[in-house]
Amino acid sequence: MNPPNELTRRKALKGLAASALAGTSMFGFERSAHAQFFAAGSRLNIPPLIDSRASNNDIPITMQSGKHAFFPNKWSDTAGFGQSFLGPAIRLYRNQTTRLGFQNLLNEPTSVHGHGLHVPGWLDGGPQAQIDPGQTWSVELPIVQQASTNWFHPHLHGSTSRQVHSGLAGLYLIEDDNSLNLPIPKTYGLDDIPLIVQDRDFEGGVMVPYSVTEREMMNGKREDTILVNGTVNPFVTVPQGWVRLRLLNGSNARGYEFHLSGKESFYKIATEGGFLDEPVEMTSLRMVPGERNEIMINLSDGKSRQLLSKLVPLDDDVLEELFPRTARVLQIRVDGTKRGQGQLPPRLNSIERLRRQDVHVVRDFRLQMEHRGQAGHGMHSMFAINGKAMHPGRIDERVRKGDVELWRVTRDEMDHPFHLHGASFQIHAQRRRAPRPEDRGWKDTVEVGYGWTELLVRFEHEANDQFPYMYHCHILEHKDDGMMGQFTVSQFN
Ligand code: C2O
Ligand code: CU
Ligand code: CU
Repeated sequence: MNPPNELTRRKALKGLAASALAGTSMFGFERSAHAQFFAAGSRLNIPPLIDSRASNNDIPITMQSGKHAFFPNKWSDTAGFGQSFLGPAIRLYRNQTTRLGFQNLLNEPTSVHGHGLHVPGWLDGGPQAQIDPGQTWSVELPIVQQASTNWFHPHLHGSTSRQVHSGLAGLYLIEDDNSLNLPIPKTYGLDDIPLIVQDRDFEGGVMVPYSVTEREMMNGKREDTILVNGTVNPFVTVPQGWVRLRLLNGSNARGYEFHLSGKESFYKIATEGGFLDEPVEMTSLRMVPGERNEIMINLSDGKSRQLLSKLVPLDDDVLEELFPRTARVLQIRVDGTKRGQGQLPPRLNSIERLRRQDVHVVRDFRLQMEHRGQAGHGMHSMFAINGKAMHPGRIDERVRKGDVELWRVTRDEMDHPFHLHGASFQIHAQRRRAPRPEDRGWKDTVEVGYGWTELLVRFEHEANDQFPYMYHCHILEHKDDGMMGQFTVSQFN
C-alpha cells in the first residue's frame, strides 16, 4: 500500500477552508432563513412504537419513498419504513421470535440489516439478502440477547449511504426481564426517549438529495443541519424527575460530542449491546456513526435543559479544527405538573467479562485509504481493509463458533468507526490502555484512532458463505466504497 498521503489532503483542505469560511454560522444552521422557526423550535417527532407482543409477533413494514416536510410546507424527497422519513421503533423481547415482513415499495433493490442483532447470517440482512422492488423479505428473528437499543437500515453494497441518507432507518428496542424490572424510566416517548441524531443540508427548506464530492468520499459526508428523529430544532416536554435518552448516531459520517448546557453531569447507563454494570457519571459523550448509548438526566429540580453537541469530524478537517462548532440538539422542557416515575439504580447489570487468556485466535485489521492521482485532478480514493476492498464473492475471515477471539484494529490515516455483525464485543484496550468505565460495556461499533484498538469477541451464531457477516467502517461513504470485509462463523473451522 502507499504510505498515507497527509500532505495532499491537508493542501486540498486548506484551500477549501478559506473559501468556506464566509458561509459558516455558529450553529451551522440556516439561521437567517428560518430565524423565527428556530426561536420557537418544533415538537420532537417520536417514532411510532410497534410492540411485538401487541402485534402477535407478526409485523409487516413497507419501505417506501415519500415527501417529508422538515420545514412547514417545504416538501423534500425522502424514504422511510411505513412513513415518509425514518421508521418505527420496534420493541422486541428476549426469548421471543418475531416475524418481520419488509416489503420493498422503492424502485430499487435494498436490504434490511439489523444492526446490533445477534442473529444467524441468513437473518442478518447484509448485501446478500437483497430485496428486489415489489418483493417482501420475511424473517423470523429469534431474540436471545440482552436488553439493548439497536437499529435497522439498508445494507446493499454501494447504495447504503444514499438509502440511509434518504431516511431509511428505524429502531429495534430489545427488552428483557432485567430492563423491565429495573426502576429506570421506561415509558416510551414520555421519559424513555429515543434520539436518532443525523445531519442534512437544506436549501430553501428542502433537503438536498444525496450526492458526494471526492472530498466527501474521503472524509465522509457531513452536513450542517442537525435532525433528531427527523425534526429540525426540536424540543421535548418531559415530567419532572429522571429522564432516559436512547441516543443513536445515525449520521453517515459525523461524530458528536454531546453535553448539557452548563456542563452539568448526566449518567451513562448503556452501550450498544446492553446496560453497563453501573451508571457512570459524565459531562461529555462522544459518539461515532453507528454507536448507541443510553443516558439518564436528573431533572428533579424542574429546570429545563439543553442537549448540545460539539460537531466533530473524524478526519483532520482544518476548517472544523480551527472553528469547532456547537449545535443545539434538543431543548428539554420540564412540565412541573407531572412527576417522573423512574429512578437511577446503583446497579444495572452483571456483565460477563471476556478474558484475554481465553483467546484462541488473534486477527489484525488495518483500515486503509489510498489516494491515486493529484488533488483536484481526478484524485480517486480507495478504501480497503488489509489491502483488500470489499468483494461480495470473497470470504475474508473464517471464525469458529464459540471461540473467544481478539480483533486488533488500526488505521493508516483518519479515524474510522469500526463495526462488526453477529455479536457484541468488549474493548480490551485502546492504545494499550484499559477502557474507561463508561466503555466497559457490550459494544458493536467503536472509534478506531491511532494505535491499536483491541476487541474481545465471541461469536455464538452461524453465518455461512452464502450469507456471511460483515465488518466495516460505519462512515457509510467508506463502507460503500470498499472498507468492508466478510466472515463466516461455523463449528467446523
Ligand atoms: Cu449499521 Cu453493517 O451496519
Ligand atoms: Cu451492523
Ligand atoms: Cu472510514
